[in-house]
Amino acid sequence: MRTNQFICGDAAHVLKDAPNESVDLVVTDPPYLVKYKDRLGRTLANDDNPDAVLSVFDEIYRILKPSSYCISFYGWNAVAEFAERWKSLGFATVGHIVWVKSYASRQGHTRYRHESAFVLAKGWPQKPQNPIPDVLPWEYTGNKHHPTEKAVSVIEPLIKGFSKPGDVVVDPFSGSGSTSVAAALHGRDYIGIDVEERYCAHARERIARLRQMQSEELPTAA
Ligand SMILES: C[S@@+](CC[C@H](N)C(=O)[O-])C[C@H]1O[C@@H](n2cnc3c(N)ncnc32)[C@H](O)[C@@H]1O
Repeated sequence: MRTNQFICGDAAHVLKDAPNESVDLVVTDPPYLVKYKDRLGRTLANDDNPDAVLSVFDEIYRILKPSSYCISFYGWNAVAEFAERWKSLGFATVGHIVWVKSYASRQGHTRYRHESAFVLAKGWPQKPQNPIPDVLPWEYTGNKHHPTEKAVSVIEPLIKGFSKPGDVVVDPFSGSGSTSVAAALHGRDYIGIDVEERYCAHARERIARLRQMQSEELPTAA
């Protein structure tokens, strides 16, 4: 499968074209399975369809290289479903990261002031020499282009901490493409997949802008 592209489609099908054990790192942010609806009435594809979300992890496990990481955001509401699938596939939970928000994104029995992700290991990856902290600051994007858009600054520590330049980073629930932008910023190759074409189109525009900026920063040949 060609790297440095966004593919529109159901990741469980799209990833069938990716060879076994070909990917260095997965960083992803699946629908949290909470029937999400934001203040503007925007929803997320498959947020009410656990099979369509969890089945993607079967492919993620297959395409990851032996001894590698998958970092997945999740919502506490459906942690049991996610954890059961990850465990049944063979992933080991080797870390848990919390991002602290300065504001409450919602309110229920508590005020929601954090996001979280599990660090999952396939096999026995070598521990990073300088592990990242498991509590990190959150940045709000304004969600202009996607209802749950993660800031590039939120993803960057994951890319830098769990991969190296030249690695292939895949995000099968890519949305606005923040994982791929963070990967490209740090010299990694990327593949982003989303079932909604409008998000793939936006992600392609973001990468094109980044490439343009990077080319303008290059010193001109003497
Ligand atoms: C929580 S959002 C990801 C947001 C992303 N992290 C960002 O910064 O914009 C999850 C995304 O997964 C996509 N999605 C849901 N089911 C999918 C599937 N089976 N295959 C590919 N994409 C899917 C949705 O369209 C949505 O954009």
